[in-house]
Amino acid sequence: MPMTWRAAMTTALYGADGFFVTGDGPAAHFRTSANAAPVLGAALLRLLDRVDTALGHPDRLDVVDVGAGRGELLRTVAALAPAELGRRLRLTGVELAPRPDPLPPEIEWLDTVPTGIVGLLIGTEWLDNVPLDLAGAGPAGWHQVLVDPVSGIESAGPPIAATDLAWLSHWWPDQPGGPGLAEEGAAGPLPGARVEIGRSRDAAWAAAVDAVDRGLALAVDYGHLRTGRPIGGTLTGFRSGRQVPPVPDGSCDLTAHVAVDSVAAAGEVVAGVAYTLVSQGAALRALGADGRRPPLTLAGTDPTGYVRALAAASTVAELTDPAGLGGHWWLLQPVGIEPGGLLPEQTAAGTR
Ligand SMILES: C[S@@+](CC[C@H](N)C(=O)[O-])C[C@H]1O[C@@H](n2cnc3c(N)ncnc32)[C@H](O)[C@@H]1O
Repeated sequence: MPMTWRAAMTTALYGADGFFVTGDGPAAHFRTSANAAPVLGAALLRLLDRVDTALGHPDRLDVVDVGAGRGELLRTVAALAPAELGRRLRLTGVELAPRPDPLPPEIEWLDTVPTGIVGLLIGTEWLDNVPLDLAGAGPAGWHQVLVDPVSGIESAGPPIAATDLAWLSHWWPDQPGGPGLAEEGAAGPLPGARVEIGRSRDAAWAAAVDAVDRGLALAVDYGHLRTGRPIGGTLTGFRSGRQVPPVPDGSCDLTAHVAVDSVAAAGEVVAGVAYTLVSQGAALRALGADGRRPPLTLAGTDPTGYVRALAAASTVAELTDPAGLGGHWWLLQPVGIEPGGLLPEQTAAGTR
């Protein structure tokens, strides 16, 4: 029975037998920055230290990880936090998957984002898994793309809603023959064109930002900007480390790159404070991540330390590689604090 992609993704990923709520979790199927936990965790602690200072060192400092997987990142933050900070930290994983076992008891596990957050809310590779609708172009303009959840075969649905058309017109105008051109009185979208409507991600991010009373909301994800949306979109599947056709039958991850500028604008409206959008590579360098190899002389004096430093350097290189994880976006949305100083070297270039 054909349905919208958004409905199909919701069931396939988060239904009773959904891909993300059963099994071994995301890390069993693909590598994310959060899987490189010690390096990312250390960088986040440096960022958290700046947020803590901006907040005036409150008695309770939240770290809320939305789309927490199996708690990999929170476990690392708990393990690496210095004692004084650790005493004030309140760690919360927000997941549609059940609480993993074992998980340190100090980590709370919820299925919705708690309100009143004072500290850091983070979502690494969360937004790309927020279900969204697709539009296809036919002779009469944009229509919904429907999908059969068993076979993955697509068909044309009814015309898209006016709200979706408005989103496309503003945020995805560069598709050849796309809605931007139609708006200007040119020919309608080229038959066969295909786009992903990011409104549901905007709403999810805006709600997450709204849950922060004071502090920073940080999204880390792969995505694109209005000036360079990918032709045909990016919807795809992943299973056991391999890219597979996106069939919404619960057997694979279903993901589409995030329209990060649209999401950022939605969060900024809620926060009323300018956001910063930078590449992960730039963000990690600003936070002091060092990808240089340790000096060879260390191998002679401290072989174990040398191997450890070499492993850390290669993880930093992986996380900052512009062709890979380093090309992911960091969207920093301050709430009720001064944006300056969170990523000192980057704010001038990346803030809008
Ligand atoms: C790609 S995984 C990322 C996991 C982890 N953050 C990482 O970077 O490795 C996305 C996760 O987001 C979770 N997720 C998606 N939407 C969610 C929501 N609305 N609330 C809570 N968790 C959600 C999924 O269950 C899944 O575990």
